[in-house]
Amino acid sequence: MNLRSWFQRRYVNEMVKVLIEDDRKCQELIRRVEADYGVKIKLPDSNSIPSCFLVDMLERAFTTGKIVLPPKITVLDFGCGDWFYAPFLLGFLKHWQGFREVCLEGIDFPSRKNKRSLRRLQKGELDLRVHWGDIMNLSQENKYDIIFASHMVAGPHHCKMWGVPYYKPSILFSYLQSLGKPDCLFVVIAYEYAGEDAIFRCFKSKLTEFFYQPLVEKKFSSFLYNRRGFHDNSICISRSPFVDLEACTRYEEEIEEMDAILY
Ligand SMILES: C[S@@+](CC[C@H](N)C(=O)[O-])C[C@H]1O[C@@H](n2cnc3c(N)ncnc32)[C@H](O)[C@@H]1O
Repeated sequence: MNLRSWFQRRYVNEMVKVLIEDDRKCQELIRRVEADYGVKIKLPDSNSIPSCFLVDMLERAFTTGKIVLPPKITVLDFGCGDWFYAPFLLGFLKHWQGFREVCLEGIDFPSRKNKRSLRRLQKGELDLRVHWGDIMNLSQENKYDIIFASHMVAGPHHCKMWGVPYYKPSILFSYLQSLGKPDCLFVVIAYEYAGEDAIFRCFKSKLTEFFYQPLVEKKFSSFLYNRRGFHDNSICISRSPFVDLEACTRYEEEIEEMDAILY
């Protein structure tokens, strides 16, 4: 056997098999998300498959957390960014275990990219509302049934890089808690590979916490399916009052120390 046919057999054939299998799983997930959550998916679109992973992860988390939602909810997505996954999040909240009325709000700083993306979303007649600015200025006490925080875990260094203010977790989470209703759900999603899920230590009254198992093989297809990632993430859902102040203080010290060493 020459080197070329050995390489072909060893790597290329295996890669093709994995890609075909991953594609089958993704197509299956897309069909399910379209049917169950009323979302229309047009491929190719680099946002749709990651957004389907988000729905899949939320579905598992809401199921294991035995979460029951009332017929009308108000939801805040803290740090929504360009909100590429908003139609999917809205679809999930509206249709998960029966139809309900959902008022979905996001908050982030008003960059040109965020504003352009939101205009596009609103053209699609999606019922979304965005507050522009710092969450600490959002004076909405006891308003929300659910608060999402996805990929929001950041120490002083990353906040500086993003150009956003750094708040100690005890201050930030206590403020978030005050925005929610007394039994508000707090849904946090963090990159597991970067160890960001250490932030989950700051929360008590947890209903569920787990690592979202890969649906597709990372080996070859990650560049296709994982570009904007909800893949290989961890998720934690707590119910208010969810802030563990002592754990927050310990976490703050660790993250600030780590930042000082690394940057
Ligand atoms: C990594 S992005 C996550 C975007 C999106 N949630 C996702 O999962 O793809 C974090 C976002 O949080 C926003 N952010 C950070 N601190 C904030 C604050 N104090 N008030 C409002 N937005 C904030 C940043 O501007 C940034 O867009």
